[in-house]
Amino acid sequence: MDAKANGTRWWHGATLYQIYVRSWRDTNADGYGDLPGVIAGLDYLQWLGVDGIWLSPTMPSPDQDWGYDVSDYVAVHPELGTLADLDKLIAEAGQRGIKIVLDLVPNHTSNAHAWFTDARSGRDSVHRGYYVWADPVKGEGEAGAPPNNWRDATGGSAWTLDDASGQYYLHNFLPAMPDLNWWDPRVHEEFREIIRFWLDRGVAGFRIDVAHGLYKDAQFRDNPPLIGGGRLDGGFGLRPVYSSHQPETHAVYRDWRKIADGYTPQRLLLGETWMGDLGKMASYYGQNDELDLAFNFPFVFSEFSADALAGVVGQTLAALPAGASPVWMASNHDISRFPTRWAGGDERKARLALLVLATLPGTTTFYYGDEIAMTDVAVPRELRRDRMTPGVGTEGRDAERTPMQWNASASAGFTDEGVTPWLPFGDNATRNVAAQREDPGSTLCLLRDLLALRRREFAGQVVPYERLPAPPGVWSYRSGPLLITANFTGDPVPLPDRRDEVLLTTAPDAAPGAALSPWQGLITRTGGA
Ligand code: GLC
Ligand code: CA
Repeated sequence: MDAKANGTRWWHGATLYQIYVRSWRDTNADGYGDLPGVIAGLDYLQWLGVDGIWLSPTMPSPDQDWGYDVSDYVAVHPELGTLADLDKLIAEAGQRGIKIVLDLVPNHTSNAHAWFTDARSGRDSVHRGYYVWADPVKGEGEAGAPPNNWRDATGGSAWTLDDASGQYYLHNFLPAMPDLNWWDPRVHEEFREIIRFWLDRGVAGFRIDVAHGLYKDAQFRDNPPLIGGGRLDGGFGLRPVYSSHQPETHAVYRDWRKIADGYTPQRLLLGETWMGDLGKMASYYGQNDELDLAFNFPFVFSEFSADALAGVVGQTLAALPAGASPVWMASNHDISRFPTRWAGGDERKARLALLVLATLPGTTTFYYGDEIAMTDVAVPRELRRDRMTPGVGTEGRDAERTPMQWNASASAGFTDEGVTPWLPFGDNATRNVAAQREDPGSTLCLLRDLLALRRREFAGQVVPYERLPAPPGVWSYRSGPLLITANFTGDPVPLPDRRDEVLLTTAPDAAPGAALSPWQGLITRTGGA
């Protein structure tokens, strides 16, 4: 299918921008960012050159996991605004050529959701089957042991005993987030309706939370031990073979894809596919009949080196079905920001990463603050808000969720003077949007230039990519008509004699011509493209 001709795959060659709504802009002085705040930032995002916004969860929630515990799928969280605000956001973004993508959480609900309240009311309740229940294993202790060895996201048992009914319910995340039972066809019907509800309102698609979850092993077999492997392969000593990644899940996305494809322009299904195996990740694209895009975590957790990154990119492109678009990102609300994780606060490295993200084929995604190379913020223990990562020896996820640094004022331009923000500000005096907007040499202006170039050269296409020979530590590749040379070393690297037109460089002050300075990236145009 010629994506350009039918014009419907708006994410091809596009730039997405993730807004963690609570941290973007607070318009009613309660310390939390909100939907009117997103509207207030649209002009800025248009200026930056963003094509679509992924909003972190906007639905009502008791906020045990800041919106990922949904208590009503067809409404707006009162703390963030109203349905009218969301409609207005969709309309106003649309006027600026920006699409709105919502976060959809189908793996679990909040324990405050009406389905769970009913399910919990008794074994014969209407919604009992919407959740995953199991009898205790008798013989060990008074109440009986949990049915198997599955662990939740905090490391505790993934099962909580419901005293009233004497059965355990499953939660892969927090006890307040019971897992849905996708073996029940009624759950499928509920989500079809939820999806249509939002797509009918003009939402451009969904980022699907825990897309590899949904179904769980019907026999509740024990997860095997994790031997070797890293953060993407499991946790707490176990490989989640039976608690996620079930083959039946693919049929859900084929079903949703048919729904999404029924809309014009086509709506995006973008999965959070948290896994280390790129082949498995690619399987979520199906035969181009499941997810449109699957987030690439091996790329995120790659070492920041030419060979490691180029290796992941090459393997990704080889694994995807023909015609599919990869999607790249380097920061989000669950992982350390790349200006810290990859760049260690070194601006040159952060700029190089932005250049790479903006010139890879397919779809690219930035997390709010990436454009000013916002770093993680050390949030003091007593101010932390994330219950999932209580901070046993780590910063937890709050570090990457602090408010957007709009300007140098005491309120960072995030909220009113004197209001305490929900999480503390980083160093907004030295790093903020207002100052960088004034400075044509800033990282913000670099990304704006990169995105303008990206749109000019890539819009509507997944351009061909090819890695080119280069000196050690240098990643050189062709992306459509662009030739990228990225020096991932701390030394100057001689450049081959090139007469190509220089379009952009991350180090405009570096001596032109013969060498790339340390951590410098350069984009030229190849002749005859
Ligand atoms: C996803 C979200 C994360 C959340 C979890 C449970 O990984 O990105 O923030 O805690 O799912 O919904
Ligand atoms: Ca607010």
